[in-house]
Amino acid sequence: MCRLDHAARLPDSQLEQVRQQVSAFNFALFQSEAEIDKLEFLALNRQFGLIRLDSNLGADADSVTSLQVVADGDERAQYIPYTNRALNWHTDGYYKSHDCRINAFALYCVNQTARGGGNTLFDHELMYILIRDQAPELLAALMANDLMHIPPNIQNNKLIRAEESGPVFSIQPGSCGLHMRYTSRPRNIVWKSDKRSEQALNLVREILMDSESTIELRLHNNQGIVCNNILHGRQAFHDQSGRPGRLIYRARYHDAIDLDRDPRPESAGA
Ligand SMILES: [Fe+2]
Repeated sequence: MCRLDHAARLPDSQLEQVRQQVSAFNFALFQSEAEIDKLEFLALNRQFGLIRLDSNLGADADSVTSLQVVADGDERAQYIPYTNRALNWHTDGYYKSHDCRINAFALYCVNQTARGGGNTLFDHELMYILIRDQAPELLAALMANDLMHIPPNIQNNKLIRAEESGPVFSIQPGSCGLHMRYTSRPRNIVWKSDKRSEQALNLVREILMDSESTIELRLHNNQGIVCNNILHGRQAFHDQSGRPGRLIYRARYHDAIDLDRDPRPESAGA
């Protein structure tokens, strides 16, 4: 757990430790001394080299999404992240086009809930390695461009998102980093149904169900995670009436974490 300094910045003294953590596991945890606002959250993420923000329909004007339970009449209530229901294994933005892929995201816990709300994490690069070790012949199926088909999102005769197809695993152009698109949700997704594809997807599911490499954590207030869009899920939760509900800030990026990208001008002379 990386402890931020009093100005909610990543201390130089912890840079190397965080660099090694991200290199090994594709994520890092952090904790601020006190609650930070969304501007500070975005400034912190910039220190991880995360600059090119993605926005989505449910995001606030600053492109940060406030993940919390919304009222039934709210349009966002149809999407699970804005309910208290469990979120199955997925990577963020799996439905996006290759050019708009999400390479990293950060979460910050403003307020944890009374019960539940824990997260599960699984390094997508580890998933690739486990498949390569167990059944390397299935990797080609997971890298096929027509493996995953996502129908368009049309609401009230309005096209919210065009249909999309793509692989589960792909290599990032330029960096050779691995990108993963995946969801365990059966709805709104059509998988290629040949035998090899089914075998490959079943192996992914088996690994997610059985692996000892799954990380479980429950963010406390003022704690957060920054990651290279690894596989993750969320437990269902229950807010207590009369008390503030669960509130998590989420920012998604087209960049991957790069601790060497940010020149850290604000901290250089501090
Ligand atoms: Fe997510």
